[in-house]
Amino acid sequence: MQQLTQQLQDNNTPADLIQLILSICRACKEITTQLQGGAMTGVLGSAGAENVQGETQKKLDVVSNDILKQTLIASGSVRAVASEEEETIVAGNDEGHYLVAFDPLDGSSNIDINSMVGTIFSIMPAPASAAVSEQDFLQPGRQQVAAGYVLYGPSVMLVLSLGDGVQMYTLDQQTGEFILTVDRVQIDTETREFAINMSNQRFWAPPMQAYIDDLLAGSDGPREKNFNMRWVAAMVADVHRILCRGGLFTYPWDKRDPDKPGKLRLMYEANPMGMLIEQAGGAAYTDSGPILDIQPEKIHQRVPVILGSINEVNTCVAYHQQRPF
Ligand code: AHG
Ligand code: MN
Ligand code: MN
Repeated sequence: MQQLTQQLQDNNTPADLIQLILSICRACKEITTQLQGGAMTGVLGSAGAENVQGETQKKLDVVSNDILKQTLIASGSVRAVASEEEETIVAGNDEGHYLVAFDPLDGSSNIDINSMVGTIFSIMPAPASAAVSEQDFLQPGRQQVAAGYVLYGPSVMLVLSLGDGVQMYTLDQQTGEFILTVDRVQIDTETREFAINMSNQRFWAPPMQAYIDDLLAGSDGPREKNFNMRWVAAMVADVHRILCRGGLFTYPWDKRDPDKPGKLRLMYEANPMGMLIEQAGGAAYTDSGPILDIQPEKIHQRVPVILGSINEVNTCVAYHQQRPF
């Protein structure tokens, strides 16, 4: 069973990128400790503040953000970070070769019910000049050097891609090492499982309504097979299930708020997950095409997301072409 560091070295990963990934691991192990303390350490509940996107922050959103931010800006290889919980970017080392965008704690509504949460990260190349601005982060997802997440579940897992497949590592709590447990993850092309927050049904566009109606009709409808549904309310956990056993996940466009064409954030959620899904043989779309081809316009931008098993994603996308908004 191979350790993360050894595996990265064997694959000729640049030393400063290894150092950066190990910094993320260190921060996530600290977040694990905070999560495991639960109610005993007073970290549950609301922080009593809102983030830049108007969402109420949980204490653990703030704690996790601080841990990751401090660790990364102190890591010599990071030029700057952008976070879902920060208004603007935070500068690191002038000589760092990488930019990191992250969602420090994904699935915050699960914290107080002791359910699954995660940390999502996206690593991009830094610009040539020493000065760095928000503009430098606005790179299409295809340019990501690496992307991944840490899932805080019954076991703690790191799922990582450096652009050559997807690897899963499990944290050995005794030694503190991440150990390679699944090499070259491949998502099943077909699925009978989907994930969507059904309570938003009346707000979706007609094509998504039609697609989901046909899934729900099961063997009596045009799909002529029954589908199962799952919704963890933490994208990390839903994507992890899809990497393990296939499925379709969507947080679609909805009509509630014209300023929010989707709920999920491009830089912190859609791009890193899009890279993992594509690298594992799946597909990741927004309403205009592949997520990874979107030219970002602002760091906190939100986008509709459809991802998972390639044949099912293509079917869902085809509904949108036949019956446009
Ligand atoms: P976050 O906790 O970082 O704000 O993200 C939560 C996201 C995503 O992880 C999940 O799929 C979705 O929001 C859940 O939304 P609902 O509350 O609509 O279920
Ligand atoms: Mn999130
Ligand atoms: Mn979050």
